[in-house]
Amino acid sequence: MVDLEVVLGLVLGPLIICYGLLKWNEVRYKKKGMPPGTMGWPLFGETTEFLTQGHDFMKKQKARYGNLFKTHMLGSPTVICLDPELNKYILMNEWKGLVPGYPKSMQDLMGKWNISRVRGSLHKSMRSAMLGRMGPNMIKDGLISEFDEFLRTHLGSWSGKVIDIQEKTEELWVLSTLKQIVGIENDVIAQELKSELTNFVSGTLSLPIYFPGTNYYRGFQARRKIVSILEKLIKEKKASPSSQNCMLDYLLRYDDDTEAKFSDEQVIDLAVTTVYSGFETVSTTTMMAIKYLYEHPRALEEIRNEQFGIRNRKSPEDMLDWNDYKYMNFTRAVILETLRLATVINGVLRQATKDIELKGYIIPKGWRIYVYIREINYDPSMYPEPLEFNPWRWLDENLESHQHFLVFGGGGRLCPGKELGMVEIATFLHHFVTKYRWEEVGDNKIQKFPRVEAPNGLHIRVWDY
Ligand code: HEM
Repeated sequence: MVDLEVVLGLVLGPLIICYGLLKWNEVRYKKKGMPPGTMGWPLFGETTEFLTQGHDFMKKQKARYGNLFKTHMLGSPTVICLDPELNKYILMNEWKGLVPGYPKSMQDLMGKWNISRVRGSLHKSMRSAMLGRMGPNMIKDGLISEFDEFLRTHLGSWSGKVIDIQEKTEELWVLSTLKQIVGIENDVIAQELKSELTNFVSGTLSLPIYFPGTNYYRGFQARRKIVSILEKLIKEKKASPSSQNCMLDYLLRYDDDTEAKFSDEQVIDLAVTTVYSGFETVSTTTMMAIKYLYEHPRALEEIRNEQFGIRNRKSPEDMLDWNDYKYMNFTRAVILETLRLATVINGVLRQATKDIELKGYIIPKGWRIYVYIREINYDPSMYPEPLEFNPWRWLDENLESHQHFLVFGGGGRLCPGKELGMVEIATFLHHFVTKYRWEEVGDNKIQKFPRVEAPNGLHIRVWDY
């Protein structure tokens, strides 16, 4: 017979060790005046709970500790903020020591000159360069017509087919971004870039372990290939005496009198950031808008009427322009409602450069602050019946300018690609809804956390309208 003491030892031993480790991790990060919360396991913290339970983890912790609580996730002690007012304050006050604080894996892969890593005058120069190239003035001056032309060529052959709209929107986005960045439409380079981007994106959300087989390692290999493609293109641009209509050329020649011109390394990291920032946000939102419209025939009818109204005022060869876009009120509402419901960016990260007081609590120097946006998008006091897809709510323009609308961030880091992303999606929807009808085929699952995606694709059958 097995001794009772041995059985007790086998059962209690691991429990005591676990308790000891959890306790040790709590004590390690204990400091007077900090927000409530738990720190989980040494090294891993509560990363697994966060990634597997997602929104439920947030709800559970909020019920226990309120809108501001501490945890340890993605390799760092972190304070999670679900308070809309405080979130706004954090985003508006970078200068008080609340700087962007993205995980090591993301920072490493995006490069040392990526825009979220730089501050002060260099950040200002990079932002104005980006806005100068893709802000509202450039959109007015022609970007919208360029998208229109691009989509006419690429959206013409889907009738009668079953397509994976997730794959198609990603391919289209990479191809169009390649055109904007380097001024060429090259299917081979675009395919190469797309397959590298998938590894790159997974690497940015991984534990930073540089070892063959890890996502981080694969992400680095992908970065190397993307950088070598860009270096080759930069060499070609520099060898060409005439300037070209593309972002790379513009950045290489950029000079705003406040900074020295950008180095090749800086131009490469800016281009990588642009590809990365727009890739998932725009393609996933486009896919989800197609899904919501299919599920809500009344919204589909209204967006079709709006887009046919625009089309019918023009001759077939006339390109869309800024005035047409201004008329797309309902289309914009569909995009905003899609962004709200299928939040592609759950939150943004900041890091305290010194001990900081927030709502009477101390956030120690070096800690990350997760400004969690998703929660606000489902707040019933701002969005009655928050789980309903209701684009009409956005026809009240005050909603978009509401101080708690943080889908595009806020303060000095407000997304510089906001209007560009909206225009890209709107132009796609213009062509798609006026050209085609569609229905979903098979069982298309949508996963909303930690990323919004259709793990097995989103398959639709398409016909001419
Ligand atoms: C519709 C989709 C988009 C959404 C929802 C979105 C959302 C955001 C958010 C929330 C931030 C703030 C990050 C922070 O505060 O740390 C941001 C920043 C940024 N976004 Fe977007 N974005 C979108 C499209 C784009 C596009 C199309 C581009 C470029 C082509 C772009 C480029 C950037 C860049 C460069 C930043 C960093 C700005 C800075 O640090 O100053 N975004 N975006």
